[in-house]
Amino acid sequence: MGWREGAKKRAALEAVKHVREGFVVGLGSGTTVAYAIQEIGERIRREGLRVFGVPTSHQALLLAVSCGIPLTTLDEWPKLDLTIDGADQVDKGLNLIKGMGGALMREKIVASAAKQFVVVADETKLVEKLGANHPVPVEVLPFALSTVVARVEELGGKAVLREGKRKVGPVVTDNGNFILDAEFGSVDALDKLDVAVKLIPGVLETGLFVGMADVVYLGKQDGVVKLERK
Ligand code: 5RP
Repeated sequence: MGWREGAKKRAALEAVKHVREGFVVGLGSGTTVAYAIQEIGERIRREGLRVFGVPTSHQALLLAVSCGIPLTTLDEWPKLDLTIDGADQVDKGLNLIKGMGGALMREKIVASAAKQFVVVADETKLVEKLGANHPVPVEVLPFALSTVVARVEELGGKAVLREGKRKVGPVVTDNGNFILDAEFGSVDALDKLDVAVKLIPGVLETGLFVGMADVVYLGKQDGVVKLERK
């Protein structure tokens, strides 16, 4: 395992220490949180831990099933005890850009439903300012694609339709929508940008997670750094 995979796993193992008996846990998507999902499965086997998971994507669902984690839904549990998820960029204020895996809409819903939102990433994800050299993913209703692209340009951004890999045409999300990757450059007023983009008709969600994370574990080569909301 390379240093980065080791760092991701170390961060994930710290996050899973937040999981307690009887918890209903939001399960994020991506390669880092996958280590956390596997560890929850291990704890179920080792300790007889009783928990339920709410997956944020088909990826998380299939992995959770293969790890023996019983699943439930937001309809049964509208309030979750904890959500664990990854991130693409993290700033020191614990704001995030998420959605390079295309699961941002369910991820934001599940994070906002949780009493505690714990984020796991390797240290390369920590940045001074969100958005520098990184797009903000935006989930868009296919019908509204071109009008949203134009409106993002009016806001000073440049939106590119995310194309599939090993599939021709656009990426289609688990919700049947498209993803725009919108470059805004480094962002100062995160909450204002988030609101402005969300107000565009046809935008379903943005990958800006402002003021949502309670704890971030950043895996390093030789340990884990914990950032906590004050
Ligand atoms: C998916 C996400 C992921 O959590 C994010 O892309 C981080 O993924 P990884 O841990 O594989 O780097 O937001 O929509």
